[in-house]
Amino acid sequence: MQSSLFILGRQPALGLVELERLFGSEKITPIGSMAASVSIDPDDVPFDRLGGSIKLAAVLTERQTTNWDELVTYISSILPSKIESLPEGKIKLGISAYGINAGVQQINKGGLQIKKSIKHSGRSVRVVPNNEHALNSAQVIHNQLLSPLGLELIFVANGRSTIIAQTLREQDIEAYAARDQRRPKRDARVGMLPPKLAQIIINLAVGNMKQKSVVLDPFCGTGVVLQEAGLMGYTPYGSDLEPRMIEYSTANIQWVEKLTGESLNTHLEVGDATELEWKPKPDAIAGETYLGRPFSSLPDRETLTGVMQDVNLIHKRFLQNVARQTSAGFELCIAIPAWKTPEGFKHLKLLDSLEDLGYTRRSFVHADNKDLLYHREGQIVARELVVLIRK
Ligand SMILES: C[S@@+](CC[C@H](N)C(=O)[O-])C[C@H]1O[C@@H](n2cnc3c(N)ncnc32)[C@H](O)[C@@H]1O
Repeated sequence: MQSSLFILGRQPALGLVELERLFGSEKITPIGSMAASVSIDPDDVPFDRLGGSIKLAAVLTERQTTNWDELVTYISSILPSKIESLPEGKIKLGISAYGINAGVQQINKGGLQIKKSIKHSGRSVRVVPNNEHALNSAQVIHNQLLSPLGLELIFVANGRSTIIAQTLREQDIEAYAARDQRRPKRDARVGMLPPKLAQIIINLAVGNMKQKSVVLDPFCGTGVVLQEAGLMGYTPYGSDLEPRMIEYSTANIQWVEKLTGESLNTHLEVGDATELEWKPKPDAIAGETYLGRPFSSLPDRETLTGVMQDVNLIHKRFLQNVARQTSAGFELCIAIPAWKTPEGFKHLKLLDSLEDLGYTRRSFVHADNKDLLYHREGQIVARELVVLIRK
């Protein structure tokens, strides 16, 4: 069986746990700091639903060296026979190197050497110049490296050896941007959950749950999680304290339904997550909860303590409410707030008493729970991903 190589997103730990939840820890080998190989055929990978991986590639071989010149010499020797099967026309070649000790100039030089070997075999080829070690999604797509005449070669250092792979899929950044920015109803105040992060949250909650399962977001806001759950084949169920948010989610879901031509069978209702009784009973819960007041700069200690106490209480009551309505084994993935302070991230206190609330926090083999924080430079409020199993 051919192995799949994944290049992980900006926060590799999030991509790793997503893969682990979907494919199982034993199938996964982290490679360097930003990739993972998974013993699964690339044809069996549901790439469009992975928010945490930016490239999917088929592993071609592993060489017992990380020396760039040796790798280039090797690939130059095997490529002419590999490209024989490509249709007639000019080949487009791109190179991405991860964790390889070579400068951008050296990588470009390697590209020219590989080009020479291809030309030597009688084929014309254009090499995409690198301005960084790796090509980004836009470059790969724009230069048609995924077309029948295209080829992106990925080199990832794996200790003393190097995995060489060919890219098959690239994260569709335009589709993500459209799902994020073209929704009719947006609200900067409740926050903008990126669709990629929504996918990660859903994957962590549902694992391999069957299609049409009901996925509840009890703090649904404008409905990003609902929209993504629907697109992933689940039945979205959203509730929110504010009637306006339910109106927004309704409009946004209708927009997605129009785009895809498919009915998502969404259930939406106004309700307080600390006491609402959800009917139909959800199969899993996935969502970004109440994050408290947004901050553009760090508040004073007293203000922050007050906000954290309020938010903690809402979460505690919410988890108690969920525990009352679910049975052992029920899983939820929630993105909860953590605040960045000069002393480090401050976490919700209830994380220390999950067992008392009736939950076990899921841990992962390939990443530490403390690294499951989604955070952007300059943000005060981060989202901490927590996967809980009802005891
Ligand atoms: C951070 S926003 C979630 C944003 C959402 N992920 C989206 O796609 O827009 C939190 C939401 O929780 C809602 N909320 C706050 N307290 C709540 C409660 N006790 N029960 C239900 N919803 C609540 C707010 O109205 C807000 O829409």
